[in-house]
This record gives sequence, C-alpha cells and structure tokens, in this order.
Amino acid sequence: MIVYRTKTDLTGHLLSLQNEGKSIGLVPTMGALHQGHMSLVEKAAAENDVVVVTIFVNPTQFNDPSDLDLYPRTLDQDLELLRQLEADLVFVPAVKEMYPDEETQVFDLGGLDKVMEGKHRPGHFNGVAQIVSKLFLMIRPHRAYFGQKDFQQLVVIRRLVEILDMNLTIVSCPIIREKDGLAMSSRNTRLSKEERKLAPFIYETLVHASELLDALSPSQLKEWVILQFKKQGALELEYFEIVEDKGLIPVNKWDEEVNKVACLAVLLGGVRLIDNLIFD
Ligand code: PAF
Repeated sequence: MIVYRTKTDLTGHLLSLQNEGKSIGLVPTMGALHQGHMSLVEKAAAENDVVVVTIFVNPTQFNDPSDLDLYPRTLDQDLELLRQLEADLVFVPAVKEMYPDEETQVFDLGGLDKVMEGKHRPGHFNGVAQIVSKLFLMIRPHRAYFGQKDFQQLVVIRRLVEILDMNLTIVSCPIIREKDGLAMSSRNTRLSKEERKLAPFIYETLVHASELLDALSPSQLKEWVILQFKKQGALELEYFEIVEDKGLIPVNKWDEEVNKVACLAVLLGGVRLIDNLIFD
C-alpha cells in the first residue's frame, strides 16, 4: 500500500496504471474508518484492479465550525486498517493541497441539495460536490463507492456525475449496522455511554414505521414518528421525510410504482446522527 500526500505524486502513479489498462475503484472517505468503510473497500477490491482510498476531512462541507473541529481524526489507525484490507493507494492530502485558493465553485444540484440535510446544513452538499468533483477529475476512477447511509449524498453525487459528464459508475453499498441496529458512523464515537444506549431507538423507530405502511397514510406516519421521538424525549428529531429515491420529492400517497426512502436526522447530546430505510 502506498500513501500519497500530493496530487502530482498520486496522479503520476495513476497515469501509469491507466496506461496499463487497469480499472480503478475509488473510495472517498473522511477517515475515522469503521466497518461501513471497510465494506466499501472490500467491494471496490472485488470489482477493480486497483483501489484508491482518500482520507480528507473536507472543510467546505461543514457548515458548523465546531462540528469540523470535533470530527474524529484517527489517521494511524485508518492506515493500519487499510493495510490489512490490502488497499493499493491511499491519498491523504492537506487542506492546502486540495484548496490552494479559496474555493468558490457553485454547483447547480437541481434542488436536491436544498431538502432534508440541505435545509439543516446550508452549503453542505455544495461542499461535498466541490471535493468529490476534484477527486473524480483527478483520479478518473471507473467506479466510486458510497454508503447508502448518506442516502441524499448518493443522489446528489449521481447528479454531480451528470453535471461533470463523466463516464463513471456510482456504486451504492448497503448500510452496515451495529448488532443493536445503530447505523455505523464515525460520529458514533462521540456519543457518551448513556447516549450510545439510547441511539438504537433511531433504527427501531424506522423499522416500526415500515410496519405501519398499510395502516397509516404518509402524513399520518410522519406524525406518528414525530410523536415517538417526542415521547422518547432524549433524542431530538430534526426531520423525518419519506421521499422518492431519485428526485427526493416527498411522498404524499402510497404508490407501489414509486421507490420510497424514509430519511431522518436526530440530535443526541451534541451529536447529529442520520439514518434511513428503504420502504418496499
Ligand atoms: O461521506 C463522506 O465521508 C464525505 O461526505 C465524502 C464523500 C468523503 C466527501 O468528503
């Protein structure tokens, strides 16, 4: 495994691999790697000749400076994990390497960036688009791997690929959960012991909601979920939406033809957690 810190070194190596006709799988991350990331690396390794993992805590996607400061950084541990998984190339740039000047690029994400996460984290998806487009254009992967936990991000990135007009396959990988159902996330390490015990309530509620589809309309189900969180008390629900899976349009009536995803964000102590469940 080779660790690169500069674009020039990384792209120099990639060019020779591309000339040899090797297929390249990219796994972009912000580090603090867990089993969710590992599953992306494993899938990328199974489907490509070469796996490139990037580790970069991207400042432009954080609308809250304290969230950026508190984001866990565990580089040595991350590199050790990637070595065990036999990742080929790891790119760990400094902020100046990715953003030598102030970044001003604005993407037209067709409103996908304005709902749910976008409403609560203004500018977040533009920041994601800024860094992911840089990585795509620099690395030119054949496939890029993203977790379904960040469902809205996946939809936004598919739109970004259209904007960039790149020949690239976005591979969506299933959410990896702890035994008690909590979706794996780098932010989980910031939960206190008490908060960690309460966190499985998020997935339990999503599953329970999915069992009520025959009994309740979408708006009734939304109210039901809001009520469950109010009754629970410790977890503050930021939003709960049932949306169709391409344009993220809210669903107001059940239609079997439409693929539906229930998405939510919750504040637990000072930690913001997101999760989602596909409603079949
Ligand atoms: O999902 C993440 O970890 C980040 O949003 C990503 C895609 C690596 C961009 O910084």
